[in-house]
Amino acid sequence: MDSNKRPETMLRINTKELADAFIAEQVAAVREQVGDKKVLLALSGGVDSSVVAALLIKAIGKQLVCVHVNHGLMRKGESEQVIEVFHDGLDANLIYIDATERFLTKLENVSDPETKRKIIGGEFIRVFEEEARKLEGISFLAQGTIYPDIVESHGVKAHHNVGGLPEDMHFEGLVEPIKLLYKDEVRVVGRALGLPAGMVDRQPFPGPGLGVRCTGAITRDRLAALRESDAILREEFDRASLTGKVWQFFTVVPDFRSTGVREGKRVFDWPVIIRAVNTVDAMTATVPEIDWAVLKRITQRILAEVPGVCRVLYDLSPKAPATIEWE
Ligand code: XMP
Repeated sequence: MDSNKRPETMLRINTKELADAFIAEQVAAVREQVGDKKVLLALSGGVDSSVVAALLIKAIGKQLVCVHVNHGLMRKGESEQVIEVFHDGLDANLIYIDATERFLTKLENVSDPETKRKIIGGEFIRVFEEEARKLEGISFLAQGTIYPDIVESHGVKAHHNVGGLPEDMHFEGLVEPIKLLYKDEVRVVGRALGLPAGMVDRQPFPGPGLGVRCTGAITRDRLAALRESDAILREEFDRASLTGKVWQFFTVVPDFRSTGVREGKRVFDWPVIIRAVNTVDAMTATVPEIDWAVLKRITQRILAEVPGVCRVLYDLSPKAPATIEWE
């Protein structure tokens, strides 16, 4: 039987009971597969790697070594949440690597979107590999592969996801406990494992992170404006109960300025673009009609709280012809 094919008889995991049964089954299977050996996992904090981490901690505890690489393109509070949930909460064996400087230096003056993606993806694997080599006696590599990753492979853009398999490293085997699950099932399993809602119901976040939303050559000032404006947007969408209703939302800081006036003086500052979309499969997308009062409040907050920004725009473009991300 092809172990990468979902059996037709497999039930859709949509209840706590089914999730618990799946977890018990996978815990036993993982224990059987790895015995007393060690397993390595790149833990980005996304839904898939987080669910794999929680499942493996339940199965093998400290035999799991999680490596979280902060590439400096994370959203506000994201790395902190990984540390809080897994290190502080679940007592995981977690190695935290702040590689911000390394990534931002490599990305300096690089403006082509696909080159940026390649640098981020490639550098991620190198950092992860370097850390893995320092560790002794790791036999298995765990991955958060899910069923759509196996089934689908093509897109308009090079979807380099961080956490690919380091090619020249030799592991006894791969541990992929959720590879037959669909995304909604992964979330049900995550909830059954006790992961926080903010982590399990997270909106999709591209592997290259904020890197594809700070258009053109990434600069630290624009990256900071992007991180702060994105945090404000998320806070205000939460407050307006839009989180979970709008499929994906974020801000973009483009690499051009516009004229503004502050305290009677002319300024030449960045715009912030709000992007919000609804979609079923990310192949096409529509733009939701956000309440004017919510947009106004977000605009006021960004203009008041984010340095270097003098203008806020709402992107009304559907996909197609626009893609969801700006790069
Ligand atoms: P686009 O911009 O192609 O995005 O309409 C469709 C969905 O894919 C996400 N996306 C990415 N995800 N690595 C990822 O893991 C990437 O390089 C990447 N580019 C886009 C995007 O956020 C949206 O959900």
